[in-house]
Amino acid sequence: MSDLTRSQPSSNQLATKAQAWSALFSEPMSDLVKRYTSSVFFDKRLWQADIAGSLAHAEMLAAQAIIGPEDYAAIQKGMAQITQEIEAGQFDWQLDLEDVHLNIEARLTALVGDAGKRLHTGRSRNDQVATDVRLWLRGEIDVTVELLRALQLALVEVAENNVEVILPGFTHLQVAQPVSFAHHLLAYVEMFERDAQRMLDLRKRVNVLPLGSAALAGTTYPLDRERVATTLGMEGVCQNSLDGVSDRDFAIEFSAAASLVMVHISRLSEELIVWMSQNFGFIKIADRFTTGSSIMPQKKNPDVPELARGKTGRVVGHLMGLITLMKGQPLAYNKDNQEDKEPLFDTVDTLKDTLRIFAEMVGGQVNPHTGCKEGGITVNAQAMRAAAQKGYATATDLADYLVKKGLPFRDAHETVAHAVKLAAQKGVDLSELSLAELQAFNPNVADDVFAVLSLEGSLNARNTLGGTAPAQVRAQLARHRARLG
Ligand code: ARG
Repeated sequence: MSDLTRSQPSSNQLATKAQAWSALFSEPMSDLVKRYTSSVFFDKRLWQADIAGSLAHAEMLAAQAIIGPEDYAAIQKGMAQITQEIEAGQFDWQLDLEDVHLNIEARLTALVGDAGKRLHTGRSRNDQVATDVRLWLRGEIDVTVELLRALQLALVEVAENNVEVILPGFTHLQVAQPVSFAHHLLAYVEMFERDAQRMLDLRKRVNVLPLGSAALAGTTYPLDRERVATTLGMEGVCQNSLDGVSDRDFAIEFSAAASLVMVHISRLSEELIVWMSQNFGFIKIADRFTTGSSIMPQKKNPDVPELARGKTGRVVGHLMGLITLMKGQPLAYNKDNQEDKEPLFDTVDTLKDTLRIFAEMVGGQVNPHTGCKEGGITVNAQAMRAAAQKGYATATDLADYLVKKGLPFRDAHETVAHAVKLAAQKGVDLSELSLAELQAFNPNVADDVFAVLSLEGSLNARNTLGGTAPAQVRAQLARHRARLG
């Protein structure tokens, strides 16, 4: 053993091991290698999962008479103290002890002696870390689903006040057909609901127990893995030890689902940014979500939606990182897997912050005095309407009208194109052409055409399930309300 190793206090054998793992090693790790290989400064965030997993393991070891009841009691007592120390910020995290697992185990042994050393019976850090990440991620999935619901609720609230507000719907960012603003917002509610369902679905595959796989091949002790799974509220047990310790597909799945959430957020961001630009002027967001310019005094920049759009790249990048990390790893555990944590943690942090900020930016905050929400997006119905009237948004309605008068659709389409051309030459909307002018295109046009050419007429006509007619939108709102409360 080297001098460095020998100088460690003998009570802290794990610390000694981290310097040089065992008698087998002729030299300790260099400081650079220690820094390179240690993960404690990021994986310490798994501490609660690590302690929960250890307690469940110890409980089972005692139930199976692999350790004595007094050992289990000592482990419980030690873990209670460690919990207190960590919560109080008094736990001494040591780089030398590499990761969260060895840090906690070393402290436990320092506190309760041999019982602490017995905890690792039938267990390896390989199944331990896989268990910890799954337990931690399960909790974060639950938070994410709640936040997705809160954002949906904010969108529903704004939609409820804007069923009759009409804006141009776009395809190719060209004015296409008028739609209800509520209908537009509810499109995002659908996206975020699929995101929530995806999270709940993958949660089932996250919530499975690797512990008991040991290092890679299982263990010689008579473990009761089902018991541990039940204690931890997990839905099942990994059925193959090699797979249990090594695959991180559950983290990749989460990361893919998180990327989709961010892509949906990014699409919404892009719309908010466009809508609040001077050329549209459809909405305003509260000042606290914008920033000014140091040089242009008139500016209010939509920093929050822009950053969310940017952070989407970051989350998608983490997905690429994780999936590449897995590729090419032979069975079973490899240290590569330690690299799963930072991208996963950052994905969760970015996702939660973004969802929180969007729910508030869209729906506002509850004013404690009035109990009402304030400070959400402000809608400029006038500007939306003017824009819908500008781009011949009811041209399809005129074509449909001619079809009802007996024209084949393709011919009606062509006829309306001529009418739009005339309106464009005169600088007016289709509804502003005279009856005589419209009849010149087709003699069957009658006075009832103007109701069809109105924005309200256009909306009301799309009264099929999923369409933008206010009656349909109200039915969807009722469905979402019943679901979200
Ligand atoms: N810190 C490690 C990780 O995050 C724990 C597992 C270490 N196992 C090992 N055989 N080195 O993956």
